[in-house]
Amino acid sequence: DIVYLNGVYVKKDEACLSPFDRGFLFAHAAYEVTAVFGGELIDFDAHMARLVRTLEGIDIPRDDLTVCLQDLHEELISRNGVIEGFVYLQVTAGAYGRRDFGGPETLMPGLFMFCETRNLIGEKAQYGVSAITVEDQRWKRRDYKTTQLLSQALAYRESERGGAFGAILHEDGMVTEAASANLWVVLDAETLVTRNLGRQILPGITRQSVLDHMGRIGMTVEERVIALDELKTAREVFTTSATGLVLPVVELDGKPVGTGKPGPVTRRVQGQYYRGIG
Ligand code: PDD
Repeated sequence: DIVYLNGVYVKKDEACLSPFDRGFLFAHAAYEVTAVFGGELIDFDAHMARLVRTLEGIDIPRDDLTVCLQDLHEELISRNGVIEGFVYLQVTAGAYGRRDFGGPETLMPGLFMFCETRNLIGEKAQYGVSAITVEDQRWKRRDYKTTQLLSQALAYRESERGGAFGAILHEDGMVTEAASANLWVVLDAETLVTRNLGRQILPGITRQSVLDHMGRIGMTVEERVIALDELKTAREVFTTSATGLVLPVVELDGKPVGTGKPGPVTRRVQGQYYRGIG
């Protein structure tokens, strides 16, 4: 496995970064995960536009990043022979030899990338997954894709301990999103709902792509806040993300969602999305 770190391609086990890196000390870092399907990057430009937005939001200069990120992605995919999977990219605020909250006026960001081969459309997409609901304890700028992921990591650990695959986050009786995906619920034959964008959730690239496809599915989508009670009585639930694409949630807190199998609306959305990337 070959990874990219600050200008060089090295073997995975040989990549080294200073423990003084601000990404390590303060989670001062932005990241992106872009799906690879049939050897091609999915929605690459949209992912990079979101990266730029995050960098601006967390005060990391992006001037140096005009190194052609697309070339780096493609080179990494080709060196590792990835046909289906994803590329991970992280821009960290850099290391300055000491633990200083503010750090130097001019940051010198670092860039780390790796990729992984994975079946994006595998058993989970076919049969669905189980999830638990967990209180959302993240910071208030969830619209930035930063590596500050402790509460999501803990939510995943809790779900896995209970034999589930993921977590759906809520606060004040309202659903925000899944721990690493956006959330969609089907309330009745006509109503598909996903949360409206704002600081409370990540503006998912897959979410946007599914919204763009909705016309062809012949359903309208309500973008609004979803109550936890609506989630718990939904006919169908699914998530969207670069690593899961369109993933049915068939069990919630140990109880079946709808029939306990991926429902017809989820199947239609999957079908349309897979055709779009295939
Ligand atoms: N996570 N919401 C959260 C909190 C996420 O972490 C992600 C993605 C999404 C979906 O965004 P997109 O469709 O752009 O992947 C929504 C990635 C896959 C991860 O952390 O691995």
